[in-house]
Amino acid sequence: MAITAAITAVEGYLPDFVLSNEELAKMVDTNDEWITSRTGIKERRILKGKDQGASVMAAEAVKRLCEKRGISPEEIDLLLLATVTGDYVFPATANVVCDKVGAKNAWSYDINAACSGFIFALVTGSQFIQTGRHKKVVVVGVDKMSSIINYADRTTCIIFGDGCGAVLLEPNEDGLGVIDYVCKVDGSGRKHLYQKAGGSAKPPTADTVEKQEHYVYQEGQHVFKFAVKEMADVSVEMMKRNNLTKDNLAWLVPHQANKRIIHAVAERMEVSEDKIMMNIHKYGNTTAGTLPLCLWEYQDRLKKGDNIILSAFGGGFTWGAVYVKWAY
Ligand code: UT7
Repeated sequence: MAITAAITAVEGYLPDFVLSNEELAKMVDTNDEWITSRTGIKERRILKGKDQGASVMAAEAVKRLCEKRGISPEEIDLLLLATVTGDYVFPATANVVCDKVGAKNAWSYDINAACSGFIFALVTGSQFIQTGRHKKVVVVGVDKMSSIINYADRTTCIIFGDGCGAVLLEPNEDGLGVIDYVCKVDGSGRKHLYQKAGGSAKPPTADTVEKQEHYVYQEGQHVFKFAVKEMADVSVEMMKRNNLTKDNLAWLVPHQANKRIIHAVAERMEVSEDKIMMNIHKYGNTTAGTLPLCLWEYQDRLKKGDNIILSAFGGGFTWGAVYVKWAY
């Protein structure tokens, strides 16, 4: 049987500091009722402290991942890290994480696909397992969104939070693991959700700082419409292509951007509420972190052979869905 890339361990890391809706209501003109009914979010986590970048969360999650699986970080062949809030513009945060955890034999790089980052990284990592080239690939989804959020902008500051999840991929010959995927991009959507300055097109200057162009800019309603349609389309395609139905699908793992988007996608897939992984109320939108954090939280309820669809939409635009058969 062909080799597939099985997820053999999941771990996560969430900062201790909790930022509640009530606290946000003291900072901007909003309230718990609006945030809860429009997004489903009650609180989110924030990574505090000087010089604390995304790698702090990622290194902790990867250390825990290795401990859980009982392997040394030196056994990792490749580490892929999805983020839009890396420690630096360069080098890659993946390199920093390898250094911090002692993954001395791994090569590594970052993947920038915003909220679809974990899906893109999972699909990429699985190829190195399927070809037989690597035996242990770590896939990390991490974002410190608080580093690019304007806490005076009520349309974005209520949504995002910080967090990290990570999975280990290993070869499987029983048909378990990543089975199928569809990944898509539409770069013309970039103007609706992005960080205007700080890259090579618009390097940081006093002017860009004054104009607050280093924060997340989002046209919420526009993104909402695309997210519902595109996430649902690829998720339904994944089901049809693999003979999955509302009955034999065990779990939908949707990107946690908005509870209303999640429900609309689940409705198109005809998936019932009890099969939807959801933690948006506790952590908000952690961008690349949401999907592995969901798997981490629900891992005790997963069974070997479970049919799972992960689905996401994000800045770029990027979107995609992955069909995974749970391996343990
Ligand atoms: O993860 C990456 C992809 N991102 C997404 O998928 C996000 C997609 N978009 C969304 O989730 C939603 O569009 C938001 C949560 C961002 C906004 O919800 P909405 O239902 O689309 O609200 P809206 O932008 O249409 O605003 C409705 C009203 C406006 O007031 P008026 O113009 O009707 O008087 C806003 O000014 O709500 C107002 N508003 C707020 N009120 C209280 C906007 N933000 C807030 C707020 N508190 N935080």
